[in-house]
Amino acid sequence: MQSIDEIIEYLKSNLSEKRFLHTMGVAETAKDLATRWGVEPSKAYIAGLVHDCAKEVPFVKTIELLEKSGVALSLIEKSTPGILHAPLGAILAKEIFGIDDEEILCAVKFHTTGRENMSGLEKIIYIADFIEPNRRYSESAEVRELAKTDIDKAALKETDMVIKFNIAKGKMLHPETIHTRNYLLRVINEGKQNES
Ligand SMILES: [Fe+2]
Ligand SMILES: [Fe+2]
Repeated sequence: MQSIDEIIEYLKSNLSEKRFLHTMGVAETAKDLATRWGVEPSKAYIAGLVHDCAKEVPFVKTIELLEKSGVALSLIEKSTPGILHAPLGAILAKEIFGIDDEEILCAVKFHTTGRENMSGLEKIIYIADFIEPNRRYSESAEVRELAKTDIDKAALKETDMVIKFNIAKGKMLHPETIHTRNYLLRVINEGKQNES
């Protein structure tokens, strides 16, 4: 695997300034969340660094590269430009930076949708992407506060906001986003039952 400095240097030269700042914000936020929630901070930092490494690959090229790698794409994915940079990012993170830690690669792969039974590291990258300091919208502030006390409720709030946003914009919902929401609701409700 490349060193952290080499990874940062690559990202700085290959991403737009705005995306690079977002990337550094996600890496730092992910490290902080990991420390708070008992996840390996160095893994969270690396996953945060590389999570958007494929974000600026043109959409047509993204589809081409994923299909070349043998990834079967659904119609929804082919018409949802915001999602596929995540699975492609996992592939490129391995190819470009030599990252072969499956936990890190999965955190990159599922950072746009989450998934059922997502790991702590996956939740952290999913949330860090939404709340890093350069995200200034009010929804981020709410999730940022929740992430201090309950990581599942923070991820649920984010998922609800993503769903509402897509509905308001007349966009399709990715089924994995729905699975994420149902999973988080189940985890939160089971936690409540155990308390009573
Ligand atoms: Fe992303
Ligand atoms: Fe991102």
